[in-house]
This record gives sequence, C-alpha cells and structure tokens, in this order.
Amino acid sequence: MTTRINFNGEIGPDAFISVLDHGFLFGDSVYEVVVTQNGLPCFMKEHLRRLRNSADGLTLTIPWSDEKIMEQVARTVIDAGNSESYIRIIVTRGMGDLDIDPTSCSNPELIVLVTELKNYPASSYEKGINVALVSIKRNAKDTVNPGIKTGNYLNNVLAKVESNHMGAQDALMLNHQGHLTECTTSNFFFVCDGRVQTPSLSCGILAGITRDVLLQLAQENGILIEQGEWPPESLAKAEEAFITGTVKKVMPVTHLDGKPVADGQPGPVTRRLMRLYDSALEMEGKGSA
Ligand SMILES: Cc1ncc(COP(=O)(O)O)c(C=O)c1O
Repeated sequence: MTTRINFNGEIGPDAFISVLDHGFLFGDSVYEVVVTQNGLPCFMKEHLRRLRNSADGLTLTIPWSDEKIMEQVARTVIDAGNSESYIRIIVTRGMGDLDIDPTSCSNPELIVLVTELKNYPASSYEKGINVALVSIKRNAKDTVNPGIKTGNYLNNVLAKVESNHMGAQDALMLNHQGHLTECTTSNFFFVCDGRVQTPSLSCGILAGITRDVLLQLAQENGILIEQGEWPPESLAKAEEAFITGTVKKVMPVTHLDGKPVADGQPGPVTRRLMRLYDSALEMEGKGSA
C-alpha cells in the first residue's frame, strides 16, 4: 500500500500542517472522499460541485479551478501507483490568528491524500451489517448544517462511539424532530410494503453522491424511491434496509439494534440496487458514464 500526500502541489509520503491552520484549530475545512475504478476517479464532477457548495456554506473561497484540483488529484494518484485509490481532497481555511475569526486566514491549503482503496469484506455485502439507532442526534440544520461536508465530524464520531458500545458496525441518528436521518458516513434507506424509502434532504442529511446516483438509477429502472420524514417506529415493519456511501457503495443492513430485519438476509430490492450501482461504477471506470 502506498500513501502519497499532495500538500499545495508538493507530493510526499507525509505532510505537516501548521497548528495555526484553522482547519486544525477549529475543524474549519471541507473535504471529499472519492474512489477510483480502473484508476479513474469516479463521479469527480459531482464531488467537486459538493466541495464548492460545502466551502460556500463556510464562506470559504476555493481559489483553484476544478481543472487545477483534478490535475493535482491525477498527479497524486499516478504518483501513488495503487491499483485502486481512496482519494481525500481537503481544503482548509489556512493559517491565521489564534482566534476563531476566519478573516485573518488569507491562504486556504489544498491537500490531496491518496492511499490504496480498501474494500469492505465480501462478507459484509453477503450477510449485511448491524446498525444501531443511537441517542446522539444529527446536527440541526441551523447549527453546522449536515448538508455541508466539513472537517468537523465530532457529532458523528460520538455517534460511532455509541454504536461501537452497542456492538454495531454503524450508528443511525435521528434529528431533533425525532425523524430518521442518516448514519455516520452514509445515507440510510429502508423498504416497507415493497416501497423504498429514504429520509429527505430536509431532514438534515448530507446529499450523498452515492444516494444521488442510486436515486437516478432507481428512476431509470422503474424502482420508486420515496423521500420523506419517518419516525424510528417505521423500522419495525422494515422488510429490508441498506446504507450508501462512496467507499461502502450499497451495503445491506440486515440487523437493526441487533434484531434481524425481516429474515436477517439482504433482500431482493437491496441486491438489485447493489448490482445497478456496481454497473454504474464499471461505466465510470470506462470513462463512459
Ligand atoms: C454524514 C454522511 N452522510 C452520507 C455520506 C455518503 O456520501 P457519499 O455517497 O457522497 O460518499 C457521507 C460520506 O462520507 C457522510 O459523511
């Protein structure tokens, strides 16, 4: 496994950030995680669009063009030379005064971290995972908006710690209205009465790129996915559940709070969506999506 880090254009085995960078001091940064297929970064346009939206949400101006960022990503991927890559693109507020006010930070930093893509074990896809409903709530939209992907993930870190204690692989959070939102680094879907349902963006979630691709694939293939607001009690009748994310792809959830979802096996709708998503990734790897 080779890890290469591009720090403002300089590539090396590691990189060091100033402790005066507000990304380090206050989590004042934005980021994206991209994976490659056949060595090509997938859904790059969508990731860069979200990176800019996230930066706008923090009034952080990204001074580099998409072409410049893609060029740095390509250089780093080639330099790392892994068969498939995990790519983390980070833009921090940059160095400034030892003060929360970002106006003293005039030079954002661009970091592109590339390492070997580690896929989840095949058994997770074959058997599904256990997700716990935790007491930690997803951030309210009028705090650090969950719709922007910032370097401050502490709320999700706490949710993950809680799910670890519950013996689960991930945590499902509610919002302050008591509706289902998402997991710590993935979006959540469930099937009830044959209908696929997922919390809407208005519940306060990240607009996952995988979620968006899946919504599109479902529409093209005549699978209705409803977006809405659901209380956790709706899960009692769930026939299937799954989560989506760039690295996890479409991952079946076969246990909720340790109890089986239906027969505790990945269901037919989940399997179909897994196949559709894998095909979409293959298209990305041909550069033809
Ligand atoms: C909170 C949260 N929700 C959902 C996702 C899934 O997003 P994507 O499909 O773009 O990876 C992530 C990804 O890291 C996330 O952090």
